[in-house]
Amino acid sequence: MASGSVRVLMVSSEVESLARTGGLGDAVEALSRALGVLGADVVVVTPKYGVTRVPADARLWPRSVFAPLGLGHTRELGVLETHLADPSAAPVSSRRSAPPKASGAPRVCLLCDGELFERDGIYGDRRGAFTDNPFRFATLASGALSVAERAWDGALPDVVHAHDWHAALAVLYARRTRGAAWARVPTVLTIHNLAFQGVFPSSELDYLAIPRDAWDGGSIRHDGAVNVMKGAIDVADRVTTVSENYAREIQRWPHGFGLEGHLRWNSSKLLGIVNGIDTVSFDPKTDGAIARRYGAADAPQGKRACKEALCAELGLSSDGPLFGVVSRLQWLKGIDLLLGILPALVERGARFAFVGTGDADLEGALREAAARWPGRVASRVAFDPTLARRIFAGTDFLVVPSRDEPCGLTQMYAMRYGAIPVVTPVGGLRDTVEPVDVAHATGTGIVAAASDASSLLLACEDALGLWRESIGFESLVARAMARDSSWDDSARKYLSMYEALRGKLGP
Ligand code: GLC
Repeated sequence: MASGSVRVLMVSSEVESLARTGGLGDAVEALSRALGVLGADVVVVTPKYGVTRVPADARLWPRSVFAPLGLGHTRELGVLETHLADPSAAPVSSRRSAPPKASGAPRVCLLCDGELFERDGIYGDRRGAFTDNPFRFATLASGALSVAERAWDGALPDVVHAHDWHAALAVLYARRTRGAAWARVPTVLTIHNLAFQGVFPSSELDYLAIPRDAWDGGSIRHDGAVNVMKGAIDVADRVTTVSENYAREIQRWPHGFGLEGHLRWNSSKLLGIVNGIDTVSFDPKTDGAIARRYGAADAPQGKRACKEALCAELGLSSDGPLFGVVSRLQWLKGIDLLLGILPALVERGARFAFVGTGDADLEGALREAAARWPGRVASRVAFDPTLARRIFAGTDFLVVPSRDEPCGLTQMYAMRYGAIPVVTPVGGLRDTVEPVDVAHATGTGIVAAASDASSLLLACEDALGLWRESIGFESLVARAMARDSSWDDSARKYLSMYEALRGKLGP
Protein backbone atom coordinates (compact mmCIF):
# COMPACT_ATOMS: atom_id res chain seq x y z
CA MET A 1 0.00 0.00 0.00
CA ALA A 2 1.41 3.37 -0.99
CA SER A 3 2.52 5.49 1.92
CA GLY A 4 0.08 8.26 2.65
CA SER A 5 -2.97 6.21 1.78
CA VAL A 6 -5.79 6.83 4.19
CA ARG A 7 -6.23 4.14 6.85
CA VAL A 8 -9.96 3.58 7.30
CA LEU A 9 -11.50 1.48 10.06
CA MET A 10 -14.96 0.43 8.85
CA VAL A 11 -17.24 -0.94 11.56
CA SER A 12 -20.44 -2.67 10.52
CA SER A 13 -22.81 -5.37 11.73
CA GLU A 14 -23.22 -6.63 8.14
CA VAL A 15 -20.92 -7.30 5.20
CA GLU A 16 -22.65 -8.60 2.09
CA SER A 17 -20.58 -11.65 1.20
CA LEU A 18 -20.22 -12.76 4.84
CA ALA A 19 -23.53 -12.07 6.57
CA ARG A 20 -26.32 -9.69 5.69
CA THR A 21 -30.03 -9.08 6.07
CA GLY A 22 -30.34 -6.16 3.66
CA GLY A 23 -28.82 -3.20 1.93
CA LEU A 24 -26.47 -2.22 4.75
CA GLY A 25 -24.20 -5.19 4.01
CA ASP A 26 -24.22 -4.47 0.27
CA ALA A 27 -23.37 -0.82 0.77
CA VAL A 28 -20.55 -1.39 3.26
CA GLU A 29 -18.91 -4.08 1.17
CA ALA A 30 -19.16 -2.26 -2.15
CA LEU A 31 -18.01 1.08 -0.67
CA SER A 32 -15.05 -0.60 1.03
CA ARG A 33 -14.04 -2.26 -2.19
CA ALA A 34 -14.41 0.95 -4.20
CA LEU A 35 -12.26 2.79 -1.63
CA GLY A 36 -9.63 0.06 -1.93
CA VAL A 37 -9.53 0.59 -5.68
CA LEU A 38 -8.99 4.31 -5.06
CA GLY A 39 -5.99 3.48 -2.87
CA ALA A 40 -7.45 3.67 0.64
CA ASP A 41 -6.20 1.12 3.17
CA VAL A 42 -9.48 -0.25 4.51
CA VAL A 43 -9.98 -2.69 7.38
CA VAL A 44 -13.57 -3.79 7.94
CA VAL A 45 -14.49 -5.17 11.36
CA THR A 46 -17.68 -7.19 11.80
CA PRO A 47 -18.79 -10.06 14.06
CA LYS A 48 -18.51 -13.68 13.10
CA TYR A 49 -22.06 -14.95 13.55
CA GLY A 50 -23.28 -18.51 13.35
CA VAL A 51 -24.66 -17.59 9.91
CA THR A 52 -21.44 -16.00 8.61
CA ARG A 53 -20.00 -17.57 5.45
CA VAL A 54 -16.34 -17.71 6.40
CA PRO A 55 -14.01 -17.85 3.37
CA ALA A 56 -11.69 -20.83 3.29
CA ASP A 57 -8.56 -18.69 3.45
CA ALA A 58 -9.50 -16.87 6.67
CA ARG A 59 -6.75 -17.18 9.25
CA LEU A 60 -6.92 -16.75 12.98
CA TRP A 61 -4.72 -14.10 14.56
CA PRO A 62 -2.23 -15.80 16.86
CA ARG A 63 -3.33 -13.60 19.75
CA SER A 64 -6.80 -12.53 20.81
CA VAL A 65 -7.77 -8.90 21.25
CA PHE A 66 -9.35 -7.49 24.39
CA ALA A 67 -12.36 -5.21 24.24
CA PRO A 68 -12.81 -3.06 27.32
CA LEU A 69 -16.43 -2.60 28.35
CA GLY A 70 -18.05 -1.18 31.45
CA LEU A 71 -17.69 -2.03 35.15
CA GLY A 72 -14.14 -3.31 34.68
CA HIS A 73 -15.30 -5.99 32.29
CA THR A 74 -13.13 -6.96 29.32
CA ARG A 75 -14.16 -9.28 26.53
CA GLU A 76 -11.58 -11.54 24.92
CA LEU A 77 -12.18 -11.91 21.18
CA GLY A 78 -10.59 -14.13 18.58
CA VAL A 79 -9.91 -12.45 15.23
CA LEU A 80 -10.30 -14.22 11.90
CA GLU A 81 -8.73 -12.22 9.12
CA THR A 82 -9.72 -12.48 5.47
CA HIS A 83 -10.26 -9.98 2.67
CA LEU A 84 -13.08 -8.89 0.43
CA ALA A 85 -13.07 -11.10 -2.62
CA ASP A 86 -12.85 -9.63 -6.07
CA PRO A 87 -16.42 -10.13 -7.32
CA SER A 88 -15.29 -10.58 -10.93
CA ALA A 89 -13.45 -13.78 -9.99
CA ALA A 90 -16.65 -15.80 -9.53
CA PRO A 91 -20.34 -14.96 -9.42
CA VAL A 92 -21.57 -14.54 -5.87
CA SER A 93 -24.00 -17.40 -6.25
CA SER A 94 -21.26 -19.91 -6.95
CA ARG A 95 -18.57 -18.40 -4.73
CA ARG A 96 -17.34 -20.82 -2.06
CA SER A 97 -14.07 -19.33 -1.01
CA ALA A 98 -12.34 -16.05 -1.54
CA PRO A 99 -10.18 -15.77 -4.64
CA PRO A 100 -6.60 -14.55 -4.08
CA LYS A 101 -6.25 -11.10 -2.58
CA ALA A 102 -6.14 -8.42 -5.25
CA SER A 103 -4.03 -5.38 -4.41
CA GLY A 104 -6.13 -2.83 -2.57
CA ALA A 105 -8.70 -5.44 -1.57
CA PRO A 106 -9.92 -4.45 1.89
CA ARG A 107 -9.01 -6.65 4.80
CA VAL A 108 -11.85 -7.96 6.94
CA CYS A 109 -11.47 -8.90 10.59
CA LEU A 110 -14.21 -11.11 11.99
CA LEU A 111 -14.68 -10.88 15.76
CA CYS A 112 -15.16 -14.30 17.33
CA ASP A 113 -17.08 -14.60 20.56
CA GLY A 114 -19.00 -17.85 20.81
CA GLU A 115 -21.37 -16.68 23.50
CA LEU A 116 -22.34 -13.35 21.95
CA PHE A 117 -22.19 -13.87 18.22
CA GLU A 118 -22.29 -17.56 17.36
CA ARG A 119 -26.07 -17.67 16.83
CA ASP A 120 -28.44 -18.37 13.95
CA GLY A 121 -29.22 -14.74 13.33
CA ILE A 122 -27.61 -11.33 13.19
CA TYR A 123 -30.07 -9.30 15.23
CA GLY A 124 -32.51 -11.95 16.39
CA ASP A 125 -34.19 -15.19 15.54
CA ARG A 126 -37.75 -16.46 15.11
CA ARG A 127 -38.48 -15.52 18.72
CA GLY A 128 -37.58 -11.88 18.13
CA ALA A 129 -34.63 -9.55 18.66
CA PHE A 130 -31.87 -10.80 20.95
CA THR A 131 -32.27 -9.12 24.33
CA ASP A 132 -28.52 -8.64 24.78
CA ASN A 133 -28.11 -6.65 21.52
CA PRO A 134 -26.84 -3.52 23.32
CA PHE A 135 -24.01 -5.54 24.84
CA ARG A 136 -23.35 -7.54 21.65
CA PHE A 137 -22.94 -4.41 19.56
CA ALA A 138 -21.02 -2.53 22.24
CA THR A 139 -18.60 -5.46 22.02
CA LEU A 140 -18.41 -5.03 18.24
CA ALA A 141 -17.66 -1.30 18.68
CA SER A 142 -15.05 -1.74 21.37
CA GLY A 143 -13.55 -4.84 19.72
CA ALA A 144 -13.19 -2.95 16.43
CA LEU A 145 -10.99 -0.32 18.09
CA SER A 146 -8.90 -3.07 19.70
CA VAL A 147 -8.44 -4.73 16.30
CA ALA A 148 -7.41 -1.37 14.82
CA GLU A 149 -4.69 -1.00 17.43
CA ARG A 150 -2.99 -4.02 15.86
CA ALA A 151 -4.11 -3.94 12.23
CA TRP A 152 -1.63 -1.23 11.14
CA ASP A 153 1.39 -2.31 13.21
CA GLY A 154 0.47 -0.10 16.09
CA ALA A 155 -0.56 3.00 14.11
CA LEU A 156 -4.12 4.14 14.66
CA PRO A 157 -6.48 4.59 11.70
CA ASP A 158 -6.84 8.00 10.07
CA VAL A 159 -10.58 7.72 10.40
CA VAL A 160 -13.17 5.55 12.16
CA HIS A 161 -16.21 5.04 9.97
CA ALA A 162 -19.17 3.46 11.77
CA HIS A 163 -22.35 2.30 10.05
CA ASP A 164 -25.77 2.52 11.74
CA TRP A 165 -26.43 2.23 15.46
CA HIS A 166 -24.89 -1.23 15.81
CA ALA A 167 -21.45 0.20 15.14
CA ALA A 168 -22.10 3.73 16.38
CA LEU A 169 -20.64 3.26 19.86
CA ALA A 170 -17.24 3.00 18.15
CA VAL A 171 -17.51 6.75 17.55
CA LEU A 172 -18.25 7.41 21.19
CA TYR A 173 -15.59 5.05 22.54
CA ALA A 174 -12.92 6.48 20.25
CA ARG A 175 -13.67 10.00 21.33
CA ARG A 176 -14.37 9.41 25.01
CA THR A 177 -13.13 6.20 26.56
CA ARG A 178 -9.91 5.01 24.93
CA GLY A 179 -7.41 7.72 25.74
CA ALA A 180 -5.92 10.81 24.15
CA ALA A 181 -4.53 9.27 20.94
CA TRP A 182 -7.89 7.75 20.02
CA ALA A 183 -9.71 10.95 20.95
CA ARG A 184 -7.86 12.72 18.11
CA VAL A 185 -8.89 10.19 15.46
CA PRO A 186 -11.63 11.69 13.25
CA THR A 187 -14.93 9.84 13.19
CA VAL A 188 -17.69 9.42 10.64
CA LEU A 189 -21.14 7.98 11.27
CA THR A 190 -23.21 6.84 8.31
CA ILE A 191 -26.94 6.55 8.82
CA HIS A 192 -28.32 3.82 6.60
CA ASN A 193 -31.63 3.71 8.39
CA LEU A 194 -32.77 6.11 11.08
CA ALA A 195 -35.77 3.97 11.94
CA PHE A 196 -33.40 1.90 14.07
CA GLN A 197 -31.60 3.95 16.70
CA GLY A 198 -30.35 1.59 19.41
CA VAL A 199 -32.67 2.57 22.24
CA PHE A 200 -32.38 1.01 25.68
CA PRO A 201 -32.84 1.77 29.35
CA SER A 202 -30.36 3.87 31.30
CA SER A 203 -29.63 0.89 33.53
CA GLU A 204 -27.30 -0.31 30.74
CA LEU A 205 -25.08 2.81 30.80
CA ASP A 206 -22.31 1.65 33.13
CA TYR A 207 -22.34 -1.87 31.75
CA LEU A 208 -21.67 -0.49 28.26
CA ALA A 209 -19.01 1.99 29.39
CA ILE A 210 -21.02 5.00 28.27
CA PRO A 211 -19.67 8.06 30.10
CA ARG A 212 -22.15 9.35 32.66
CA ASP A 213 -21.87 12.93 31.44
CA ALA A 214 -23.04 11.86 27.96
CA TRP A 215 -26.26 10.87 29.69
CA ASP A 216 -26.46 13.73 32.18
CA GLY A 217 -25.75 16.37 29.55
CA GLY A 218 -28.33 14.86 27.19
CA SER A 219 -25.89 13.88 24.45
CA ILE A 220 -26.99 10.25 24.39
CA ARG A 221 -30.35 10.67 26.13
CA HIS A 222 -33.60 10.87 24.22
CA ASP A 223 -37.11 10.55 25.65
CA GLY A 224 -35.70 9.21 28.90
CA ALA A 225 -33.77 6.36 27.29
CA VAL A 226 -30.28 5.76 25.96
CA ASN A 227 -30.23 6.48 22.22
CA VAL A 228 -26.99 5.34 20.62
CA MET A 229 -27.68 6.98 17.26
CA LYS A 230 -28.28 10.33 18.92
CA GLY A 231 -25.09 10.06 20.97
CA ALA A 232 -23.01 9.20 17.92
CA ILE A 233 -24.55 12.04 15.87
CA ASP A 234 -23.54 14.36 18.67
CA VAL A 235 -19.93 13.18 18.85
CA ALA A 236 -19.03 12.28 15.24
CA ASP A 237 -17.06 14.76 13.15
CA ARG A 238 -19.21 14.01 10.13
CA VAL A 239 -22.60 12.37 9.80
CA THR A 240 -23.46 11.05 6.38
CA THR A 241 -26.63 9.55 5.05
CA VAL A 242 -27.02 7.34 2.02
CA SER A 243 -28.70 9.86 -0.27
CA GLU A 244 -28.91 13.65 -0.49
CA ASN A 245 -32.68 13.68 -0.34
CA TYR A 246 -32.68 11.55 2.82
CA ALA A 247 -30.22 13.99 4.43
CA ARG A 248 -32.85 16.69 3.93
CA GLU A 249 -35.82 14.49 4.88
CA ILE A 250 -34.44 13.36 8.24
CA GLN A 251 -34.34 16.95 9.43
CA ARG A 252 -38.15 16.93 9.42
CA TRP A 253 -40.91 14.79 10.86
CA PRO A 254 -41.73 11.95 10.13
CA HIS A 255 -38.49 10.84 8.45
CA GLY A 256 -36.42 12.02 11.42
CA PHE A 257 -38.08 9.46 13.72
CA GLY A 258 -37.89 11.86 16.65
CA LEU A 259 -34.30 12.97 16.00
CA GLU A 260 -35.24 15.65 13.44
CA GLY A 261 -34.46 18.51 15.85
CA HIS A 262 -31.13 16.97 16.80
CA LEU A 263 -30.24 16.54 13.13
CA ARG A 264 -31.17 20.13 12.31
CA TRP A 265 -28.97 21.27 15.18
CA ASN A 266 -26.12 19.20 13.71
CA SER A 267 -26.87 20.03 10.09
CA SER A 268 -23.46 21.64 9.47
CA LYS A 269 -21.79 18.25 9.74
CA LEU A 270 -24.54 16.33 7.93
CA LEU A 271 -23.90 15.26 4.35
CA GLY A 272 -25.82 13.06 1.89
CA ILE A 273 -23.74 10.82 -0.37
CA VAL A 274 -25.81 8.56 -2.53
CA ASN A 275 -24.98 4.85 -2.48
CA GLY A 276 -23.83 3.05 -5.56
CA ILE A 277 -24.07 -0.64 -6.32
CA ASP A 278 -21.43 -3.23 -7.07
CA THR A 279 -21.58 -3.13 -10.85
CA VAL A 280 -19.09 -5.97 -11.23
CA SER A 281 -21.08 -8.45 -9.19
CA PHE A 282 -24.42 -7.15 -10.49
CA ASP A 283 -23.93 -7.37 -14.22
CA PRO A 284 -26.40 -9.18 -16.51
CA LYS A 285 -23.52 -9.82 -18.93
CA THR A 286 -21.73 -12.09 -16.44
CA ASP A 287 -24.27 -13.03 -13.75
CA GLY A 288 -24.27 -16.80 -13.32
CA ALA A 289 -27.57 -16.76 -11.41
CA ILE A 290 -29.76 -15.75 -14.37
CA ALA A 291 -31.17 -17.96 -17.13
CA ARG A 292 -29.52 -16.11 -20.00
CA ARG A 293 -26.82 -13.45 -19.89
CA TYR A 294 -27.33 -10.27 -21.88
CA GLY A 295 -26.03 -6.78 -22.42
CA ALA A 296 -27.53 -3.60 -23.79
CA ALA A 297 -27.40 -4.88 -27.38
CA ASP A 298 -29.40 -8.07 -26.86
CA ALA A 299 -31.48 -6.98 -23.87
CA PRO A 300 -34.91 -7.65 -25.44
CA GLN A 301 -34.02 -11.27 -26.28
CA GLY A 302 -32.07 -11.83 -23.06
CA LYS A 303 -34.80 -10.45 -20.87
CA ARG A 304 -37.47 -12.44 -22.72
CA ALA A 305 -35.57 -15.68 -22.01
CA CYS A 306 -35.06 -14.68 -18.37
CA LYS A 307 -38.75 -13.81 -18.04
CA GLU A 308 -39.85 -17.16 -19.40
CA ALA A 309 -37.49 -19.02 -17.08
CA LEU A 310 -38.59 -16.96 -14.08
CA CYS A 311 -42.27 -17.51 -14.84
CA ALA A 312 -41.67 -21.25 -15.21
CA GLU A 313 -39.78 -21.29 -11.91
CA LEU A 314 -42.53 -19.43 -10.06
CA GLY A 315 -45.54 -20.94 -11.82
CA LEU A 316 -46.60 -17.68 -13.46
CA SER A 317 -48.02 -17.25 -16.93
CA SER A 318 -45.57 -15.19 -18.97
CA ASP A 319 -47.95 -13.38 -21.30
CA GLY A 320 -48.58 -10.16 -19.34
CA PRO A 321 -46.45 -7.35 -17.94
CA LEU A 322 -44.50 -8.71 -14.98
CA PHE A 323 -43.83 -6.67 -11.83
CA GLY A 324 -41.24 -7.77 -9.27
CA VAL A 325 -40.95 -6.84 -5.60
CA VAL A 326 -37.77 -7.58 -3.64
CA SER A 327 -38.08 -6.20 -0.14
CA ARG A 328 -38.04 -6.69 3.57
CA LEU A 329 -41.68 -7.03 4.53
CA GLN A 330 -42.21 -4.08 6.85
CA TRP A 331 -44.69 -1.29 7.16
CA LEU A 332 -42.07 1.31 6.22
CA LYS A 333 -41.45 -0.53 2.97
CA GLY A 334 -45.08 0.10 1.99
CA ILE A 335 -45.88 -3.49 1.01
CA ASP A 336 -49.40 -3.03 2.41
CA LEU A 337 -49.92 -0.09 0.01
CA LEU A 338 -49.15 -2.34 -2.90
CA LEU A 339 -51.29 -5.18 -1.55
CA GLY A 340 -54.21 -2.76 -1.39
CA ILE A 341 -54.05 -2.02 -5.13
CA LEU A 342 -53.12 -5.53 -6.19
CA PRO A 343 -56.70 -6.57 -7.14
CA ALA A 344 -57.00 -3.59 -9.51
CA LEU A 345 -53.65 -4.31 -11.15
CA VAL A 346 -54.18 -8.05 -11.51
CA GLU A 347 -57.53 -7.23 -13.08
CA ARG A 348 -55.71 -5.11 -15.69
CA GLY A 349 -53.45 -8.02 -16.63
CA ALA A 350 -50.41 -7.41 -14.42
CA ARG A 351 -48.42 -10.33 -12.98
CA PHE A 352 -46.47 -10.11 -9.74
CA ALA A 353 -43.44 -11.90 -8.31
CA PHE A 354 -42.69 -11.16 -4.65
CA VAL A 355 -39.65 -12.24 -2.68
CA GLY A 356 -38.83 -11.27 0.89
CA THR A 357 -39.33 -11.96 4.55
CA GLY A 358 -40.44 -9.86 7.46
CA ASP A 359 -43.56 -9.19 9.48
CA ALA A 360 -45.71 -12.27 9.89
CA ASP A 361 -48.94 -10.54 8.80
CA LEU A 362 -47.37 -9.30 5.55
CA GLU A 363 -45.84 -12.72 4.90
CA GLY A 364 -49.34 -14.20 5.39
CA ALA A 365 -50.91 -11.59 3.09
CA LEU A 366 -48.43 -12.40 0.33
CA ARG A 367 -49.13 -16.12 0.63
CA GLU A 368 -52.86 -15.39 0.45
CA ALA A 369 -52.43 -13.26 -2.67
CA ALA A 370 -50.54 -16.09 -4.38
CA ALA A 371 -53.29 -18.56 -3.43
CA ARG A 372 -55.99 -16.20 -4.65
CA TRP A 373 -54.41 -15.54 -8.07
CA PRO A 374 -52.52 -18.66 -9.10
CA GLY A 375 -50.50 -18.09 -12.26
CA ARG A 376 -50.70 -14.34 -11.77
CA VAL A 377 -49.17 -13.70 -8.36
CA ALA A 378 -46.24 -15.69 -6.95
CA SER A 379 -44.80 -15.16 -3.47
CA ARG A 380 -41.55 -16.57 -2.16
CA VAL A 381 -41.43 -15.84 1.54
CA ALA A 382 -37.69 -16.22 1.85
CA PHE A 383 -34.48 -14.25 1.97
CA ASP A 384 -33.15 -15.32 -1.40
CA PRO A 385 -30.55 -13.02 -3.00
CA THR A 386 -30.13 -15.34 -6.00
CA LEU A 387 -33.85 -15.35 -6.81
CA ALA A 388 -33.69 -11.56 -6.41
CA ARG A 389 -31.20 -11.45 -9.30
CA ARG A 390 -33.51 -13.57 -11.46
CA ILE A 391 -36.32 -11.17 -10.64
CA PHE A 392 -34.26 -8.13 -11.72
CA ALA A 393 -33.44 -9.96 -14.96
CA GLY A 394 -36.84 -11.50 -15.66
CA THR A 395 -39.34 -8.76 -14.79
CA ASP A 396 -40.48 -5.74 -16.76
CA PHE A 397 -40.88 -3.56 -13.67
CA LEU A 398 -39.66 -3.52 -10.09
CA VAL A 399 -41.97 -1.82 -7.59
CA VAL A 400 -40.50 -0.08 -4.55
CA PRO A 401 -43.53 1.24 -2.63
CA SER A 402 -41.63 2.53 0.43
CA ARG A 403 -42.96 5.11 2.86
CA ASP A 404 -39.36 5.80 3.89
CA GLU A 405 -36.26 4.72 1.96
CA PRO A 406 -32.86 6.10 2.96
CA CYS A 407 -31.35 5.08 -0.36
CA GLY A 408 -32.72 1.81 -1.65
CA LEU A 409 -30.56 -0.42 -3.78
CA THR A 410 -33.07 -2.65 -5.53
CA GLN A 411 -34.16 0.12 -7.90
CA MET A 412 -30.53 0.43 -9.01
CA TYR A 413 -30.09 -3.32 -9.41
CA ALA A 414 -33.34 -3.32 -11.39
CA MET A 415 -32.18 -0.58 -13.78
CA ARG A 416 -28.88 -2.36 -14.30
CA TYR A 417 -30.83 -5.46 -15.39
CA GLY A 418 -33.33 -3.49 -17.47
CA ALA A 419 -36.34 -3.77 -15.15
CA ILE A 420 -38.02 -0.37 -14.93
CA PRO A 421 -38.39 0.89 -11.36
CA VAL A 422 -41.79 2.12 -10.19
CA VAL A 423 -41.09 3.97 -6.95
CA THR A 424 -42.47 6.35 -4.36
CA PRO A 425 -40.89 9.84 -4.20
CA VAL A 426 -38.93 9.36 -0.97
CA GLY A 427 -35.29 9.28 0.10
CA GLY A 428 -32.82 7.88 -2.35
CA LEU A 429 -35.55 6.64 -4.68
CA ARG A 430 -36.03 10.24 -5.70
CA ASP A 431 -32.29 10.77 -6.17
CA THR A 432 -31.67 7.67 -8.27
CA VAL A 433 -34.74 7.30 -10.49
CA GLU A 434 -35.19 9.96 -13.14
CA PRO A 435 -38.90 10.19 -14.03
CA VAL A 436 -39.79 9.10 -17.54
CA ASP A 437 -40.65 11.87 -19.94
CA VAL A 438 -42.17 10.17 -22.95
CA ALA A 439 -42.21 13.29 -25.13
CA HIS A 440 -38.48 13.88 -24.75
CA ALA A 441 -37.44 10.24 -24.47
CA THR A 442 -35.67 10.80 -21.16
CA GLY A 443 -35.87 9.20 -17.73
CA THR A 444 -35.31 5.75 -16.34
CA GLY A 445 -38.37 4.95 -14.25
CA ILE A 446 -41.73 5.95 -12.86
CA VAL A 447 -41.92 8.07 -9.73
CA ALA A 448 -45.30 8.20 -7.98
CA ALA A 449 -46.56 11.60 -6.86
CA ALA A 450 -46.78 10.52 -3.21
CA SER A 451 -46.28 7.51 -0.95
CA ASP A 452 -49.92 6.47 -0.88
CA ALA A 453 -52.03 3.80 -2.50
CA SER A 454 -53.79 5.99 -5.06
CA SER A 455 -50.55 7.58 -6.31
CA LEU A 456 -48.96 4.16 -6.49
CA LEU A 457 -51.89 2.86 -8.49
CA LEU A 458 -51.54 5.73 -10.97
CA ALA A 459 -47.81 5.04 -11.27
CA CYS A 460 -48.41 1.33 -11.94
CA GLU A 461 -51.07 2.22 -14.51
CA ASP A 462 -48.52 4.46 -16.24
CA ALA A 463 -46.20 1.47 -16.24
CA LEU A 464 -48.83 -0.67 -17.92
CA GLY A 465 -49.33 2.04 -20.54
CA LEU A 466 -45.61 2.22 -21.29
CA TRP A 467 -45.32 -1.55 -21.53
CA ARG A 468 -47.89 -1.65 -24.32
CA GLU A 469 -45.82 0.70 -26.52
CA SER A 470 -43.12 -1.80 -27.32
CA ILE A 471 -40.70 0.49 -29.19
CA GLY A 472 -40.78 3.23 -26.55
CA PHE A 473 -40.45 0.58 -23.87
CA GLU A 474 -37.31 -0.88 -25.41
CA SER A 475 -35.61 2.49 -25.47
CA LEU A 476 -36.68 3.08 -21.87
CA VAL A 477 -35.05 -0.24 -20.92
CA ALA A 478 -31.91 0.80 -22.78
CA ARG A 479 -31.75 4.12 -20.88
CA ALA A 480 -32.25 2.37 -17.53
CA MET A 481 -29.47 -0.09 -18.30
CA ALA A 482 -27.14 2.71 -19.34
CA ARG A 483 -27.49 4.58 -16.03
CA ASP A 484 -24.20 4.72 -14.13
CA SER A 485 -24.96 3.34 -10.66
CA SER A 486 -21.36 2.53 -9.81
CA TRP A 487 -19.70 3.62 -6.59
CA ASP A 488 -16.99 5.62 -8.36
CA ASP A 489 -18.22 9.15 -7.68
CA SER A 490 -19.56 8.48 -4.23
CA ALA A 491 -16.47 6.60 -3.04
CA ARG A 492 -14.41 9.61 -4.17
CA LYS A 493 -16.62 11.86 -2.06
CA TYR A 494 -16.03 9.68 1.01
CA LEU A 495 -12.32 9.66 0.29
CA SER A 496 -12.10 13.44 0.04
CA MET A 497 -14.08 13.69 3.26
CA TYR A 498 -11.59 11.39 5.02
CA GLU A 499 -8.68 13.34 3.63
CA ALA A 500 -10.14 16.65 4.72
CA LEU A 501 -10.76 15.25 8.21
CA ARG A 502 -7.27 13.84 8.42
CA GLY A 503 -5.85 17.22 7.47
CA LYS A 504 -7.97 19.08 9.97
CA LEU A 505 -8.12 16.82 12.97
CA GLY A 506 -5.92 13.79 12.46
CA PRO A 507 -3.47 12.31 14.97
C1 GLC B 1 -30.78 0.36 4.62
C2 GLC B 1 -31.83 1.30 4.02
C3 GLC B 1 -31.76 1.31 2.50
C4 GLC B 1 -30.33 1.55 2.05
C5 GLC B 1 -29.39 0.54 2.68
C6 GLC B 1 -27.94 0.74 2.29
O1 GLC B 1 -31.10 -0.97 4.37
O2 GLC B 1 -33.13 0.92 4.44
O3 GLC B 1 -32.58 2.33 1.98
O4 GLC B 1 -30.25 1.45 0.65
O5 GLC B 1 -29.48 0.63 4.09
O6 GLC B 1 -27.46 2.00 2.65
